[in-house]
Amino acid sequence: MATASRIALITGANKGIGLETARQLGRLGITVLLGSRDAGRGAAAVADLAKDGVSASVLPLEVIDEPSIAAAAARVATEHGRLDILINNAGILDHAAETGPESTTLATYRRVFETNFFGLIAVTQAFLPLLKKSPAGRIVNLTSILGSCAEHSDPNSPIFQARYTAYDTSKAAVNLYTIELALALAGTPIKVNAAHPGWVKTDLGGDQAPLGVVEGARTTVALATLGAEGPSGGFFHQGVHMRW
Ligand SMILES: NC(=O)c1ccc[n+]([C@@H]2O[C@H](COP(=O)([O-])OP(=O)(O)OC[C@H]3O[C@@H](n4cnc5c(N)ncnc54)[C@H](OP(=O)(O)O)[C@@H]3O)[C@@H](O)[C@H]2O)c1
Repeated sequence: MATASRIALITGANKGIGLETARQLGRLGITVLLGSRDAGRGAAAVADLAKDGVSASVLPLEVIDEPSIAAAAARVATEHGRLDILINNAGILDHAAETGPESTTLATYRRVFETNFFGLIAVTQAFLPLLKKSPAGRIVNLTSILGSCAEHSDPNSPIFQARYTAYDTSKAAVNLYTIELALALAGTPIKVNAAHPGWVKTDLGGDQAPLGVVEGARTTVALATLGAEGPSGGFFHQGVHMRW
């Protein structure tokens, strides 16, 4: 598929992996709509991209606010008439509130699920009619190795000791949603995949992370630009299939 005319929306794209994903997709000639819940942070991100010669526009989008999502979808419908790539990137991890499965509060679970899981579903459902108008729709859901049941239950896994339980369970839920949505859309041109970006230096990933955002965005960009022969319903990190 030619890249010139593709239109991509990235949620939570004003910083971190989302912003770098915007940069990499923009460099491929893809029209980038930079989802941001804050107008000022969105404008600053667009200015940052412009310094690198990448043009993008801000799409105001708060993923836990249904009127905001509806307004964003209506705007894309009016201005573009379709969407080719949806990247569900917005996510939160509240390190201080993650005290383990015995004591993390229900309020924390609800808050984390609201953004990481319910927000992702709301955005996906709102934009699906526009993705169905694309000749080759692509949905990429940012999950994590921390959402893998297989990794958490394997004593040899590097994340065996990790207990960010609200975050972990929200990403596990996204993984299963990814599988079911991909199956539901089988027979259409739309491909749906889950991405583990790696442990990446961002506000969420922290300073100790081994990867920078350039490497961190690679898995998302590869899945967003899959050809017709590419997989759907998979969970990937840099081209390698992750265990669910
Ligand atoms: N970094 C890692 O090591 C790592 C590893 C595995 C998976 N991931 C996943 O990768 C994705 C991006 O993470 P990151 O490391 O780039 O995090 P980040 O730097 O903290 O960026 C998160 C982005 O999500 C936005 N966001 C959060 N809640 C939102 C909401 N309710 N509505 C709209 N936007 C919202 C933030 O906007 P504001 O600036 O307005 O808060 C920000 O733009 C997340 O889904 C994360 O779970 C990251």
